Parts: sequence; C-alpha cells; structure tokens
Amino acid sequence: MLLGIIRERDAERTRVARLLHDEIGQVLSAAGLHLDALRLDVQDRAPEIVGRTWEIQNILEGAVQQVRRLSYELCPEPLEHAGLGVGLRHLAGRRRQSFPGQLTAECPDSLDLPPAVSLALFRIAEQALDNAVQHSGATRIRLVLRAGRRRTTLEIRDNGHGFDAERMRRRPRGLGLPLMESYAQGAGLTFEIASAPGQDTIVRITKDRAPGA
Ligand SMILES: Nc1ncnc2c1ncn2[C@@H]1O[C@H](COP(=O)(O)OP(=O)(O)OP(=O)(O)O)[C@@H](O)[C@H]1O
Ligand SMILES: [Mg+2]
Repeated sequence: MLLGIIRERDAERTRVARLLHDEIGQVLSAAGLHLDALRLDVQDRAPEIVGRTWEIQNILEGAVQQVRRLSYELCPEPLEHAGLGVGLRHLAGRRRQSFPGQLTAECPDSLDLPPAVSLALFRIAEQALDNAVQHSGATRIRLVLRAGRRRTTLEIRDNGHGFDAERMRRRPRGLGLPLMESYAQGAGLTFEIASAPGQDTIVRITKDRAPGA
C-alpha cells in the first residue's frame, strides 16, 4: 500500500513542480518584462520611479529563485538530465545549509543505473540525510556512492548518538524509515540500517547488477 501512496505522491509532486515552474514562473517573468517596459516609459518623465521599479524587480527575482528552488525540491530535475551523482551533490549542498557540522558527499559523475533505481536511491538519501540532520546530533555526516562492476552502494553515515534501529523498525514512529524501505523494495534494492544508542548510524542501500547485465 505504501508503494501506491509513494507513486501517487511522486506523480503529484511532478505535477505541482511543473505548475510552479511553468505557470507561476512565467507569470513572474511576464511581470518582470512589464516592469522593464515601464522603466523605459518613465525614465525621462519621472526618473524617481526608475529606482522603485528596480526594487520591485529584485523582489520578483527573489520569487523566481524561490519558485525554482521549490520546484527542484519537489522533482529533482538534474536526476534526468545530469544524473544521480550531480543530484546527490545538490541535495547534500541544500541539507548543508541546515547542518552546522561537516556534511560531505562523494559520488561519481557518470553512473549507468536505470531511472527507477536512481530515483529510489535519491529519495532514500533525502530521508536518510533529513534524519541525520534532524535527529542524530552528529558533527559529521558522510554520503558515499560507490559504483562497482558488480554492485552499487549508497551509504549515509553520521557520527551522532545513534538509536535502537531494530526497535524502530518493529514499531515505526515516523514515515521516513518505512518510506526508505518501500523505495528500496520497489526498485529491487537491499536496505540496511545499522545503529544503536551511542554508535554511528549507517544507512546502506545496495543494488546488485543482474548476471549478464
Ligand atoms: N540518524 C539518526 N540518528 C538518530 N536517530 C535517528 C536517526 N534516524 C532516525 N532516527 C530515529 O528514528 C525515528 C524514526 O525516523 P523516521 O525517519 O521514520 O521518522 P521521523 O524522522 O521522526 O519523522 P518523518 O521522517 O516522518 O519526518 C526518529 O524520530 C529518530 O528518533
Ligand atoms: Mg525522518
């Protein structure tokens, strides 16, 4: 059932991301063009207004950036265009802004993974990084993606205070861990989480290459 919810949620995210990017983004751009025209109109007759139009233009520019950021959060475009490595580095960059410690991401640029696997790895990394940032009290978070000939491994490790992962799996408290398991299951990935009070937390997802693939 969770998988159905995930699919619906992803479809909805994509729809909202497009709407934000295409429609709202265009309205804001159109308003910017009108301001350009207004500035040309009034620059001789009322030069004091020109400064005001620049102020409004700056506010509009801020809104355009915010729409871009939001639409990216909802639907990580670079995954399709630039690939998983770039997408994960962007993600780490965004999470770094809300993490006072050291957050590093090591990922190769080019990876030959099916789109469904890339998306699942990306969505799991989002949840794992969120958890490490919000709950671990860590000073260091490392995300490492390794692509070998036989297997691809994604690891998110933090040096925080850890938690009883087994108990949490039996009795989930939030949505993050069940979501990670469902993403993994849906894309044929192995999901493991190793943690205990007082220990590092390691989330590891592996994808074995099918023989002959
Ligand atoms: N890296 C971590 N370090 C310490 N505790 C963690 C870590 N990851 C998860 N936990 C613990 O496991 C609990 C469940 O995590 P989960 O992601 O399922 O839910 P949540 O983060 O509380 O809520 P949600 O993900 O729905 O916003 C967390 O509340 C936290 O107590
Ligand atoms: Mg969580």
